[in-house]
Amino acid sequence: MPFAFINGFNMFYKEQGTNNVPVLFIHGFPLSSDIWDEQLNTLSNKTKVIAPDLRGFGKSEFTDVLYSMELFAYDLKSLLDSLNIKKVILAGLSMGGYIAFSFYRLFQTSVYAMMLIDTRAGADNEVGKKNRILLAQRARMGEKEKIVNEWVEKLLSSQTIKTKHDIVSKIRQIIFDTQSETIARVSLAMMERHDSTSLLKDITCPTLVMVGEEDKLTPVEEARLMASQIRNAKLEIIKHASHLTCIESPEQVNKALIKFLSDL
Ligand code: MLT
Repeated sequence: MPFAFINGFNMFYKEQGTNNVPVLFIHGFPLSSDIWDEQLNTLSNKTKVIAPDLRGFGKSEFTDVLYSMELFAYDLKSLLDSLNIKKVILAGLSMGGYIAFSFYRLFQTSVYAMMLIDTRAGADNEVGKKNRILLAQRARMGEKEKIVNEWVEKLLSSQTIKTKHDIVSKIRQIIFDTQSETIARVSLAMMERHDSTSLLKDITCPTLVMVGEEDKLTPVEEARLMASQIRNAKLEIIKHASHLTCIESPEQVNKALIKFLSDL
């Protein structure tokens, strides 16, 4: 799998399939492109799929800069430019959705369609902001093990945790492998992100909003509200999943993604 040297660092990305407008899968926090393995394997039979590790995550290099959702959006645009891709379908999960909103704000004409998965448009409230600062401090103090345990609980449904040990260990490993300084800087970057609520009415491309029925971080009601404010949005609620629908209920997610893509 290749690396692209863009914006002063080596970005790792997975690329499979051919034809059509590519789907760009943007992972959440504190994760990596490995969360999309089931989507890449299935969708690449039908279309081109690209899944990068964001700057500082997975196999992509960390750089000593101020992180922001816009920085990630610029990185993704540079990756697409380096691959000579003019139009893209964005599929962002959670933080990946925050980045998709930034990308849309900056490069609207390059966006053919969007899939907003287990994400929200609103900014953090005061309690949320305090928690981001606390997480950054704890990551820098070396509390990785505790952070891994807490995030597994937040990201996966209790049923997944009880019965799907392969998924739990995969997610544990991805979080454990994420550098503490990446966790710290990106936690603060999410705290500073724009409120994208007012953007929703201006989104004109076809959009799929997807959410796990048991999502504790970005609940169904938020997804429903978000979908109602986007002109061309469809809403899909994924059963037997919490926040990481793509890995907890991959068959249902893939079916919905394929249906959405074939209707475009
Ligand atoms: C994510 O999954 O990307 C994070 O839960 C997003 C967040 O903490 O707001």
